[in-house]
Amino acid sequence: MNRLPNSILCLVAGSALAVLVAAACAQSAAAPPELTLERGVLESENGVVVSAYPHASRAGAETLRAGGNAVDAAIATGLALAVTHPAAGNIGGGGFMVIRFPDGASTVIDFREKAPLRAHPEMFVGEDGEYSFQIHHRSHLAVGVPGTVAGFALAHERYGRASWRDLVDPSVVLARDGFEVSERLARSLEGRLEAFRDYPATHAQFSRDGEPYRPGEMLVQSDLAGTLERIRDQGRDGFYAGVTARLLAEEMVRGGGWITEEDLARYEAIEREPVTGTYRGYEIISMAPPSSGGTALVAMLNVLEGLDVAAMGAGSPEHAHHLIEAMRRAFRDRAMFLADADFADVPVERLTSKAYADELRATIQAEAASTSAPGDIAGEPGWESSETTHYSVVDGDGMAVSVTYTLEGGYGSYITVPGAGFLLNNEMGDFNGRPGLTDERGLIGTEPNLARPEQRMLSSMTPTILARDGELVAVIGSPGGRTIINTVLQIVVNLVDFGQSPEEAIASRRLHHQWLPDVVRMEDGYMTESDAAKLAAMGHEISWGRGQGIAHCVFVDPELGMLIGVPDPRDSDGTAAGY
Ligand code: DON
Repeated sequence: MNRLPNSILCLVAGSALAVLVAAACAQSAAAPPELTLERGVLESENGVVVSAYPHASRAGAETLRAGGNAVDAAIATGLALAVTHPAAGNIGGGGFMVIRFPDGASTVIDFREKAPLRAHPEMFVGEDGEYSFQIHHRSHLAVGVPGTVAGFALAHERYGRASWRDLVDPSVVLARDGFEVSERLARSLEGRLEAFRDYPATHAQFSRDGEPYRPGEMLVQSDLAGTLERIRDQGRDGFYAGVTARLLAEEMVRGGGWITEEDLARYEAIEREPVTGTYRGYEIISMAPPSSGGTALVAMLNVLEGLDVAAMGAGSPEHAHHLIEAMRRAFRDRAMFLADADFADVPVERLTSKAYADELRATIQAEAASTSAPGDIAGEPGWESSETTHYSVVDGDGMAVSVTYTLEGGYGSYITVPGAGFLLNNEMGDFNGRPGLTDERGLIGTEPNLARPEQRMLSSMTPTILARDGELVAVIGSPGGRTIINTVLQIVVNLVDFGQSPEEAIASRRLHHQWLPDVVRMEDGYMTESDAAKLAAMGHEISWGRGQGIAHCVFVDPELGMLIGVPDPRDSDGTAAGY
């Protein structure tokens, strides 16, 4: 962005305007402009946060307005989401933060969960020799060692400028005093109420004496407020040591889980190099392993770069075909190679090279679907819901932060730590299930992503930042399991190839293919029936599905020098806040 700070504008003002300008400067020094919250597109001059819940976007934007930078705002937003968006916002899960600094440098913070020290590759193989994670997916064994608090603490220590206390306080207040339950949250909680009965602390926290919360009622979470106070007062030790760690470890013993106080004490978030690439002159900055997101995204864009995508037309059978074929190839490589690079040799450089993309592209037939071969290596079962959350932040200096974090399933393992008030993830299911078993049902058993002590499980989360000619262009990301990578891909293509506005690029229908199962899932309305028939005639099996992803993003309008917050219209609670 080429905007001058207020102080400089004030200095260069001509003398005829001096009095007026001085008054304006004095006013802006005393009180920054009012905050605006918007369910739709929000243009903002000084800083913007787009997240899944209004209170969280407000907490982030207030942080910016009080002088915090984008990293500070991302921390305040993430902690507020842990209170107001319990399905996915969390302190009991993990995720990734991609940061681009105003000078164009970038970095990532990896706070993905880790396997506990007792973990081993066969931990989800049952006595009958079958993969058994489905039996355990709402149990203590499904829980990975949480990373969120360590990630936020590391990001703050290295790049924040506000006081830690000021970043945690808004979430303490939201938990202690309560916040108004939205219609969406009320529906979501009511839908889980029966299932929560098996998890007494969760049932108690998310119902009003066993009755569902109604929209507009206040949800108070006193135990969570206590944990957040410890985090506020003691930093990461407020979570990984002392009372919180003891409560978590005790709950593990009670429920047969494996996470100990030692696991918690040893957990560390890590700063890594982002995965980067280019697409038609745009710079792509995204997440490195243990996410597969950045690597697969860059690989697919490289394949598409050699094709005249713009000429194909958005949503045409030809465009869909080439998207699917790029996805098929990237997801096959994901299954074969991608994992925590601290444990496995992941060939990121090769997979993201233009030369490798040339090889892949050469195997695509112009008008016929390739096949996915379970014999080489098989895919993974089922589609994933969108129970992760992504949020985007840009501050007035042009610092950009892209965060995707998760409990994995909605409300994670369903286990709330009694006395500590936070939900635990069920991320262990992101490890490959049974060593050596890659089968027709779609299980993957490849070596790199097996559960080992302190390994991080493979993720698809793809928090991403786009730049061009040294200037920030967009902050992008989404929930949706494996669909995440393809959602981000299509937003980039919509912007770059089809010249769509930020609003259109987010709203446009999406499709998803993940190599196996060999089916393309399309959002209703993605293409006309006759175009779908043409695509089917090429050999693609189509399944029409519900919404794909919730991409809460920020864009920069280079002409106006304005920030544009765009909540994904697929989410009724998504909110942009800025000033
Ligand atoms: O890390 C991952 O890729 C998944 N655990 C994210 C899960 C998600 O997006 C929710 N949908 N199932």
